[in-house]
Amino acid sequence: MLDVNKIREDFPILNREIHGKKLIYLDNTATTHKPKQVIEAIKSFYEVYNANIHRGLHTLSQEASKMYEEAHDKVAEFIGADGREEIVFVRNSTEGLNLVAYAWGLKNLGEGDEIVTTLMEHHSNIVPWELVASIKKATVKYVPVKKDGTLNIEAMAEAITPRTKVVTVTHISNVLGTINDVREVGKLAREVDAIFVVDGAQSVPHMPIDVKALGCDFLAFSGHKMLGPTGTGCLYGRRELLEEMPPFLGGGDMIKSVGYDAKTGRCVCEWNMLPWKYEAGTPNIAGGIGLAAAVEYLQKIGMENVRQHERMLIEYTLKRVVDELSDITIYGPMDAEIRAGIFTFNVGDMNPHEVSLYLDKEWGIATRSGFHCAEPLHMLMGATKGTARASYYIYNTTEEIDVLVEALSKIPKKG
Ligand SMILES: Cc1ncc(COP(=O)(O)O)c(C=O)c1O
Repeated sequence: MLDVNKIREDFPILNREIHGKKLIYLDNTATTHKPKQVIEAIKSFYEVYNANIHRGLHTLSQEASKMYEEAHDKVAEFIGADGREEIVFVRNSTEGLNLVAYAWGLKNLGEGDEIVTTLMEHHSNIVPWELVASIKKATVKYVPVKKDGTLNIEAMAEAITPRTKVVTVTHISNVLGTINDVREVGKLAREVDAIFVVDGAQSVPHMPIDVKALGCDFLAFSGHKMLGPTGTGCLYGRRELLEEMPPFLGGGDMIKSVGYDAKTGRCVCEWNMLPWKYEAGTPNIAGGIGLAAAVEYLQKIGMENVRQHERMLIEYTLKRVVDELSDITIYGPMDAEIRAGIFTFNVGDMNPHEVSLYLDKEWGIATRSGFHCAEPLHMLMGATKGTARASYYIYNTTEEIDVLVEALSKIPKKG
């Protein structure tokens, strides 16, 4: 198990006080805090070897390029990819999903084609597909979620047809905490030769991931949700697909050559090798190096230990809330085996924003309230005012959950 007290020493922000109370940070689904090791890696880049990459022959540029490239190797190893060629650094999960939707979708989708997804997606795995579908006259189909918060896999099987070209699903719902059986979904996608895209924003930071075992073609995730800097994220893509797809953004560094053809008056471009073909312009160099430090930090702890710690925290939460509190609606599966460390709830018919404000002001507890960028799911669940959400990570403790439960037991209820 994790030595949480020792881990907490690495996170300076956890010493903060909020409204006179010790900060209890339970908004990890939105973004996580950064350990000293990550902050130090970024500081060291700027203080010691700051330079642009892939451009200069001078020493600083060589050092920066090496560190930035090796950051890709670390991420590749972390998720079981075949090498840096399969790891594209992007700003966040959203950009990764847009990259697939546009670069793959514009080339391969046609009129009447189908994209099959679910009603438990984050907007970032809905909107890009809707945008590309409207350009290509394709259709997005949404598979419903069962009352217990799990994916309706039978309905998924029915929704997938020979017209299906893309199947895309979130690995873990950022609202329900449901851990979807993505391997099964992947099998369904393969039966019709559709590409299989996984939104790993909430899974890669919280459990061991092996992209080859998952059987996905693409996996998008956010560095800032796994101890890394903001403005970092990754898109894993199967090498053959990344080779054959056109680039997403054009500009410097993503080309091998740009030749001007005087006869046609046009420029002819040859793409750079993977993954740089998809990283146009000066990237977030410090961010990528910081992300590698985050990956190293998580590897030292062990991702199975991360998962088991969060499993324990959510099990503890669900039990205490069910046994001791009344008038709380819990959303998502009650079985911790298939649930991540995400506790989404409502208190009576209180507005979730009031709940979140109360927790912050009176108890120093940071939670999130609203639709969590998953409005269709909230409408399906009948949570028309949204929900409140407490979400955990490696530095959270059962003592912090005790404070949350006590705070909820004393909440002044208003309609
Ligand atoms: C499941 C899921 N997908 C995608 C995203 C988008 O992540 P980002 O804002 O880092 O792009 C989030 C963010 O909360 C998420 O929870």
